[in-house]
Amino acid sequence: TYVVTDNCIACKYTDCVEVCPVDCFYEGENMLVIHPDECIDCGVCEPECPADAIRPDTEPDMDEWVSFNRKYSEMWPVITVKKDPLPDAEAKDGETGKLAKYFS
Ligand code: SF4
Ligand code: F3S
Repeated sequence: TYVVTDNCIACKYTDCVEVCPVDCFYEGENMLVIHPDECIDCGVCEPECPADAIRPDTEPDMDEWVSFNRKYSEMWPVITVKKDPLPDAEAKDGETGKLAKYFS
């Protein structure tokens, strides 16, 4: 599976949702997640993210992100249409510590 990781937080560009063939992105207030059981591993969303927040779970230390994506994809509504990024998206792109700040 692919997963959304911390740099999506407070950016939420949503370019990713338009290309997903199985509509497996789910939307929270500050970020999106991918449902790991619905993702078919096609990889087309990865290069679409301006924040480089989408990673394959084959990279090291991704287990926590898979759990995170699974947990929230079961709580949040599906999103299939692109919308405006969050207002501070450009400033927040690359900021460290966003997970602790927004999900504590
Ligand atoms: Fe959707 Fe493909 Fe991205 Fe998985 S890898 S979330 S199926 S676009
Ligand atoms: Fe987030 Fe990137 Fe999609 S910032 S909303 S994963 S395009």
